[in-house]
Amino acid sequence: MALILAIESSCDETAVAIIKDGELLSNIVSTQIDVHRKYGGVMPEIASRLHAENISIVLKEAIDTANIKLEDVDAFAVTRGPGLIGALHVGLQAAKTLAMLYKKPLIPVHHLCGHIYANEFIEELRFPLLAVVVSGGNSELVLMKDHLQFEVIGETRDDAIGECYDKVARVLGLPYPGGIPIDKLAKEGEHTYDLPTPLKGEKTYDLSYSGLKTNVINLVHNLEQKGLKVNVPDMCRSFQDVAVGMVIDRTIKAVQEYDIKQVVLAGGVSANSYLRAQMQKEMAKLYVHLNIPPMWCCTDNAAMIAKVAERLYEIKLFAPLDLGADPNWSIEDFKSF
Ligand code: KG4
Repeated sequence: MALILAIESSCDETAVAIIKDGELLSNIVSTQIDVHRKYGGVMPEIASRLHAENISIVLKEAIDTANIKLEDVDAFAVTRGPGLIGALHVGLQAAKTLAMLYKKPLIPVHHLCGHIYANEFIEELRFPLLAVVVSGGNSELVLMKDHLQFEVIGETRDDAIGECYDKVARVLGLPYPGGIPIDKLAKEGEHTYDLPTPLKGEKTYDLSYSGLKTNVINLVHNLEQKGLKVNVPDMCRSFQDVAVGMVIDRTIKAVQEYDIKQVVLAGGVSANSYLRAQMQKEMAKLYVHLNIPPMWCCTDNAAMIAKVAERLYEIKLFAPLDLGADPNWSIEDFKSF
């Protein structure tokens, strides 16, 4: 094993973590959420600038907390994609500079591998494993037959689930990030609005959220035009039932077809209380082990990048210093860069 410093800057969190032989020595996250909240979503240009302002501060705090010297680091790891191109570049430049300065290997890490391996902070992964990755930028069902083997069996055909939560929240006048208020209000509401289930009847593991989002927006506008008030808790409940229902439906089918031993939840939307409860109920019925990571490792952080980097260090998956970021990097190609 080794001493690894990992950097994450793919969206709106600037994060640095240091890990040694599986033990997390520091895990610093600086979130930009308060700035982006004003705009109702992440503003890419502002995100890049804030990463550039914050990266050295976060880096110093991580080094001080871990009480290590940079010259003792064995490798520098960084999220190479997917994510916002300008945001990714800030972390990448920092990692490349450190790797060059200290003449140590550079490890490129796929952001979603990080979300999946965050579960290893809680317990071992058991295969065949199904990772349900639900976040602001991604919605994927990933089959893993062993460590570092990723097969995408289903993905969104349009918007990501978290993005859909955020847009629906905006039309309902709720603050960003929309998943949190919708989750809360849905508990007070009833499923009274009729929202069609996307891809209903199709034999697929894919997801789709753009039509659902448009349905909510149209329904809200129609009610407003008629001078009727939208019952916000009921709309949140109706929307959430369909949005989460799709994920649960695909998970149940995949567990049965691939004889899955363990399901892990990953990404920011795995914080959703309805998704957690439904998943627990349904996986218990199928006698499948479910791992839901605690909140600190559900949202973006560099500890998860460090966790993957340890495995990549063992197989010597190192990148040259002219490495570029890839905003659309597929998890299946995590060894190609
Ligand atoms: O993984 P993440 O932190 O970063 C991105 O991929 O951007 O996920 C953020 C997303 C946001 O869209 C936010 O609305 C959603 O996760 N989210 C939730 C909840 N908490 C955060 N969605 C549903 N229910 C929640 N409780």
